[in-house]
Amino acid sequence: MPTNTPPLSDDTTVHTLIIDTDPGADDVIALLLAMASPERLKIQALTTVAGNVPLAKTSRNARLAREWGQRPDIPVYGGAQRPLLRTPIYAADIHGSEGITGVQVHEPAQPLAEGHAVDYLIDTLRAAPAQSVTLAMLGPQTNLALALAQAPDIVRGLRELVLMAGAHFNGGNITPTAEFNVFADPHAAEIVLGSGVPITMLPLDLTHKVLATPERIARLRGLGNQAGRIVADILDAYVRHDMQYYGLPGGPVHDATVVGYLLQPSLFGGRWVNVAIDSREGLGFGQTVVDWYGGLKKPANVRWIAEGDAQGFFDLMTQRISRLF
Ligand code: BDR
Ligand code: CA
Repeated sequence: MPTNTPPLSDDTTVHTLIIDTDPGADDVIALLLAMASPERLKIQALTTVAGNVPLAKTSRNARLAREWGQRPDIPVYGGAQRPLLRTPIYAADIHGSEGITGVQVHEPAQPLAEGHAVDYLIDTLRAAPAQSVTLAMLGPQTNLALALAQAPDIVRGLRELVLMAGAHFNGGNITPTAEFNVFADPHAAEIVLGSGVPITMLPLDLTHKVLATPERIARLRGLGNQAGRIVADILDAYVRHDMQYYGLPGGPVHDATVVGYLLQPSLFGGRWVNVAIDSREGLGFGQTVVDWYGGLKKPANVRWIAEGDAQGFFDLMTQRISRLF
């Protein structure tokens, strides 16, 4: 069992929050969970990035999530269209060609905010009080890497980064060694890891233990509100592939665990470790190399979350989603 080390925030922290995302079925669920928690998560903006599907669709889907969450006050900024260096990859085989499974998509009336997500990040973090903004990152980390390259001083405004990224004990999901978000832009992940901002990572080691089972999905559907139905419809379709492929009794809802972590970090356990990214061509491309036992004697740069109370997470999610329309 891992030695647990304390999280950077606790179950009462109020986060000034930006969510960087590539919706994505599980991203949409994460966004709804975040929008359902306004007393704890002060969402400043959503910034979108190409990932699960191309940017036009991730941006449309973020706007759809905002519409479903009935939060017109949250601006959505479009960001990077492609990774820093590597050839773009997508995950339409998992998330469907529109990027959201199980529900009809449409063009939402409310448009994107004017301006590029990277400029928004730079301007906002520069203007923010020191260590005041939490950034949740649910896709490839291209936007923040571009912002850091242009304006390294923005680290001052950041309190912490909470990422769905990486895999160690579990093995990868896009290759035997790599998790999708890191594999999609490992050079960006390297820049983010080198930023010196405190980082918490929720990898596949965790998300493959926090499973949306048919019973948990039925409970969400049973809430009887529109949001519960949308979440259940998305999950019913989304978990099917993973249950079959991995032989699991339910499917992971990866990105939603990041929001669960922000709301109730006491549900999760991990430890500070040194993590490096393999960005060399080859079998390990996109791998997070985790020094779990500290053998390298390198400074820890990530709090790696390896354990979670799955039922506690789904209880929290069901209760929060019940608050929506
Ligand atoms: C991650 O990859 C994407 O497909 C999901 O949205 C999640 O962010 C899981 O590896
Ligand atoms: Ca995602």
